[in-house]
Amino acid sequence: MPPRFGIWALVSGATGSLFHPDDPPDASWDRNCRLVQQAEALGFESTLVAQHLFHVRDDELGQLETWTACAALAAVTEHIEIIAAIKPALFHPAVLAKMATQIEEISHGRFAINFVNAWFKPEFERAGIPFAEHDQRYAYGAEWLRVVRDLMAGETVHFSGRHFTLNGMKLRPAGRFRARPLIYAGGESEPARALAAERADVWFLNGQSLDNIAALIAGARARPRSGAPLAFAMSAFVIARNTDEEAAAAHVAALALARQDAPLLQRTLAAADPANVMFKPLGGGEAPQVGTNGGTDAGLVGSYDTVAARIRDFWAAGVELFMLQFQPFEAEMARFATEVRPRLAHLLAQA
Ligand SMILES: Cc1cc2nc3c(=O)[nH]c(=O)nc-3n(C[C@H](O)[C@H](O)[C@H](O)COP(=O)(O)O)c2cc1C
Repeated sequence: MPPRFGIWALVSGATGSLFHPDDPPDASWDRNCRLVQQAEALGFESTLVAQHLFHVRDDELGQLETWTACAALAAVTEHIEIIAAIKPALFHPAVLAKMATQIEEISHGRFAINFVNAWFKPEFERAGIPFAEHDQRYAYGAEWLRVVRDLMAGETVHFSGRHFTLNGMKLRPAGRFRARPLIYAGGESEPARALAAERADVWFLNGQSLDNIAALIAGARARPRSGAPLAFAMSAFVIARNTDEEAAAAHVAALALARQDAPLLQRTLAAADPANVMFKPLGGGEAPQVGTNGGTDAGLVGSYDTVAARIRDFWAAGVELFMLQFQPFEAEMARFATEVRPRLAHLLAQA
């Protein structure tokens, strides 16, 4: 499979800094609608719509609602894959599976879910929804995902578990375009790895070094699994310029902006579940980074040729989908499509 590329929808209004002079936070539906349509026109194959009920850094800022937005995106796009994140504790699995099969229908078979097990405690505390301990959340999530998966596949589900009981439930329409919507799963703790290997189609990794990614993929491939092999996706923040020097200077400028976000970020990290294997989703890795979910840690920073060569290496290690962040988003996304992708195509044709 050739590599595919996606964009993070701007559910929180910006990736990178909230203080970028040319890219102030705007999480409106209108902006996201235009952004995803532009991405589709530029040849991006996928978009990831993350899920939070309110902005994780500043609850005065706007936040796009994931599932209603995905249904609308399905209706106003034609080719692009639409991946909706879902935290299992927020929806009963039967209700969620029904929503998923409906968006699969609206999109004519382009819908997917990204199972994320939640880390942002205030969201649950303020809504009064119980926030179980980390591994208990995964036990709940594993049961939840089993029910959702079978219902999305159109099966008649009889299930009696610790958390859910289903008595012969079946959803229609289902399976009109393919067997079911795809299941992605994010998270790097041991239960997250087990869940991805057992029940997901694609394991979504945070951006990190090629060595780390290769080791994570090798570990996942060694796990017991039935059905088609697990596929791999990775998040990354891209800074691509004419030369490595120009990209390095742009990276320094982005890091300086990121420092303005530091107090807000620290507040968010302090409120997060400390049991999470990574605070990386928000930039709490060892090295300073720009963007979320590993951000620039994946090293997609450099000249157009450098970035294309790094992507080729990740792809050779097993990453099939690259979910990208940029800032300012629209302009840098267009630059990636016109400058990096042709160079990558050239590299892959030579191999
Ligand atoms: C690509 C990717 C996307 C994610 N999207 C979300 C999201 O939309 N909402 C959310 O609360 N967490 C999101 N997460 C964070 C996961 O939920 C996180 O990995 C999990 O809460 C921590 O699990 P762990 O301790 O198993 O690593 C995402 C993670 C990855 C890798």
